[in-house]
Amino acid sequence: MHHSEVAYLDFNREQGQAIALASQTLTELGGPEARGVAVQARLFAEQLETLLSADQQSTLQRFSAGQLSALMFRQMPGADDPPPEKLADIMSLANSNRCQFLASRNHLLLALAQHRSFAFDIDNDGKQVRLVANFKGGGCIPLLDEKPDTETELTSHAGMRLGPHTEAPYNCSTVASNGHSPAPCALILTARWNPAHEATAVFPLRHILERMHSLDVLALTSPSFDFTRSECFADGHGNAGQAVSLLQFNPDGGFAIRYNSYRFSLNANASRAAVRAFNAFQQVLSSTPPLLFDLQADTALLINNGRALHSRDIIRDNRRLLLRQFGYSRCAVPIVIAEDPLLVRA
Ligand SMILES: [Fe+2]
Repeated sequence: MHHSEVAYLDFNREQGQAIALASQTLTELGGPEARGVAVQARLFAEQLETLLSADQQSTLQRFSAGQLSALMFRQMPGADDPPPEKLADIMSLANSNRCQFLASRNHLLLALAQHRSFAFDIDNDGKQVRLVANFKGGGCIPLLDEKPDTETELTSHAGMRLGPHTEAPYNCSTVASNGHSPAPCALILTARWNPAHEATAVFPLRHILERMHSLDVLALTSPSFDFTRSECFADGHGNAGQAVSLLQFNPDGGFAIRYNSYRFSLNANASRAAVRAFNAFQQVLSSTPPLLFDLQADTALLINNGRALHSRDIIRDNRRLLLRQFGYSRCAVPIVIAEDPLLVRA
């Protein structure tokens, strides 16, 4: 598909081999959760950059400068890794060599796009790599031990449909504020298995904002919106938020949105202009068909978390397993708890 907000970076054979070799070495060093690996990933990324064509370099540059909603890496060597009959438990999967390899490759690709891989303290047990799969039920087909009628959480560890959203936290973008680090600038996803080719949907926001009335767009920058606490945060941690803006303009001329279709609502004190703007935004969003990406082991999708929403449908094949990491661009100013591996306060 051609879309001005999306680019593809197709690696040739030599580049693919270099990526596989570097990812393997990063895996042997302990992967993204190990100390010292981020520096090595950056070094490998610099070496890899010298193998890229001028076109490929300029595509990467567009993403790292915040000018793209999504960048799809393709044609990476995908080892022969047929899906199992059912997924193993999350710990064995996370520790498997193959998942460590794919996470290391994500780490390398984030570095190639000038983003630092990081984790939030209260999210995903403070780990950099999140396994995204139906571990907790709520998919089309019940898990073997899934009890009917239990309430399923709305997180990437369950099989529920996840409506259009950016990644939490929702307090601020780019620069820390009121004791909260900014939302991730980017997320990267790859698939270990996706046998039913279930799509990851991306909604570039630029065209959505351009379809709105200019005064409505302006009203989205007012502190008129509330959000509920993210269920993926550790018990007792993370807050709901009140009177935040949905859209902000950045010093570099770009913009960033924070939004979640199932967590955001209007603040009780929102002005009539903000009410109208919120409704208009949701209306334009619901009439916008997303761009669909079929993630497989030979691809990875980098999404600009301030410039695009993403979503997915209810999980149909319970063997679907994605790996996700977050990245901060050079402009991001988080509240750092530990430098290596980078851990920040949510
Ligand atoms: Fe997400």
